[in-house]
Amino acid sequence: MSVKKIIFLNQKGGVGKTTTVVNLGSALAQMGKKVLILDLDSQGNLTSGIGSDGRGLGMYEVIAGKCSAQDACQKTLVDNLFIIPSNIHMAGLNIELVAQYERELFLKRALESLDDSWDYILGDCPPSLGLVTVNAMTWAQYVIIPMQCEYYAMEGLNLLMRTIGNIKKSLNPDLKILGILFTMFIKRTKLTTEVVDDVSSYFPDLIFSTIIPRSIRLAEAPSHGLPINIYDGRSNGAKAYGSLAKEVEKRVGKLK
Ligand SMILES: Nc1ncnc2c1ncn2[C@@H]1O[C@H](COP(=O)(O)OP(=O)(O)O)[C@@H](O)[C@H]1O
Ligand SMILES: [Mg+2]
Repeated sequence: MSVKKIIFLNQKGGVGKTTTVVNLGSALAQMGKKVLILDLDSQGNLTSGIGSDGRGLGMYEVIAGKCSAQDACQKTLVDNLFIIPSNIHMAGLNIELVAQYERELFLKRALESLDDSWDYILGDCPPSLGLVTVNAMTWAQYVIIPMQCEYYAMEGLNLLMRTIGNIKKSLNPDLKILGILFTMFIKRTKLTTEVVDDVSSYFPDLIFSTIIPRSIRLAEAPSHGLPINIYDGRSNGAKAYGSLAKEVEKRVGKLK
C-alpha cells in the first residue's frame, strides 16, 4: 500500500482547515480508503469535532517519543477513519522542540513506522508557521491550502508559498502543492469572482474545481462530534466534500 501524506496549511485561522480534514477524511473513508487524521493543533478542534475526548495518548506523546504512533491511533465512529488526537500538552511542544537537535525532523521520524498501514494520513496544522507546522511540512508529501474568498487572501498566500518553497529547498524536496481549495463560498459576487480570478491567474493549475459552500450543516456537525457525511449525508456540504475526495484521488494519482 502506498500511503499519501497530506497536510492542510494556512497560517490564518478560521479558513476551514479542520473542517476539511475531518470531512475529506470521512469522505475518503466512505470510499473504502483507510484514513488516519492527525490533530497537530493544540486547540484540539479536530479531536472534539470527531467526537474524541482527547484522553489517552495523542500527538504530543508521539512527537515527544513517549509512545509509538501505532499505540496512539484511536478509532472513530466512522469505519476506516482513525485519529491521533491532540491534548493540552501540545500547547508547549513548539517551545520544547526549539532546544532540540534536528528539531524539524521529530514528526517525520515519529510517523515513519506508520506508512504501510494507511491509504491516507491527513494532518491538521495549527494556524501558524511555527515549528510544529515546519515538522508537518518536513514529513508530508502534499499540501492542500484551504482559503476563503476574501480581499486579503492573496497576501497570506504569497507568504505561505514562499515558506513552502523554502522547506522544499532545505528539508523536503519532495513536497508538492496538491491544490488550493476555496471554502465557505457564499455566492458569486464581484468580490468573490475577483478573488477566484486573481488566485487562478497566479496559480492556474492549483485550484480545485470543487468549491466548498458556506453551510450551516457543516458548521453544526462538529458540535455533534460527527463528520458531515454521517450528520447529514444529503446536504450540499456532504456532496462538496464527496466531490473533493474524488478530485484528491485523481490528483494524487497524477502527481505521483
Ligand atoms: N463551509 C463552511 N460553512 C460554514 N461554516 C464553516 C465552513 N467551514 C468551516 N466552518 C466553520 O468556521 C469555523 C472555522 O473553521 P475551521 O475548519 O475550524 O478553520 P481552521 O481550522 O482553518 O481554523 C468553524 O466554526 C467551522 O465550523
Ligand atoms: Mg483548525
